[in-house]
Amino acid sequence: MHPEAKKILVREEDINSRVKELGDLISRDYRDTDGLLVVGILKGAVIFMADLVRQLTIPVKLDFMAVSSYGKASESSGVVRILKDLEHNIQGKHLLIVEDIVDTGLTLKYLKENLETRGPASLKICTLLDKPARRKVNVEVNYNGFIIGDEFVVGYGLDYNERYRNEKSIFILKPEVYAS
Ligand code: PRP
Repeated sequence: MHPEAKKILVREEDINSRVKELGDLISRDYRDTDGLLVVGILKGAVIFMADLVRQLTIPVKLDFMAVSSYGKASESSGVVRILKDLEHNIQGKHLLIVEDIVDTGLTLKYLKENLETRGPASLKICTLLDKPARRKVNVEVNYNGFIIGDEFVVGYGLDYNERYRNEKSIFILKPEVYAS
């Protein structure tokens, strides 16, 4: 266990087997299409996306978006600014947005509405973690790895002050880490 971890919430083995299951499910759901454009939301989704796409057996292209949420501090505004937009024209394409976590849902609600105006053939959402206790707006998650409680977690892409993204498990930090 990481020396600054208080408790492991999702073990590396459990992440890996769930990612494989999600990959199988997604490959099956899109097997009759001409492929999928997987859109990762920087930066948290990068680790999950890299593992997930290697489990897919359908043709895949990758793209990325970066957003910043003005409302993050107060967690109330829902105003999202696009820092980096897609490189692909998504009209007529099957899109899968990949996120590390859905918390209030504000980021995904905005992204989904924004991308839908560009005329994709379909748009689905895949998240590794879902924290339904914190939801402020309703957003449909099509593929979910794990439902977690209202706890701040790091690892496997998720950070605290940009640290711990490279950890292989998902864990809760010791309280003294926040104090330092
Ligand atoms: C996190 C996460 C989602 C968003 C979810 O990103 O990756 O994009 O917050 O929160 P919401 O459901 O309340 O909108 P963050 O802003 O921490 O950026 P990061 O991915 O670069 O760590």
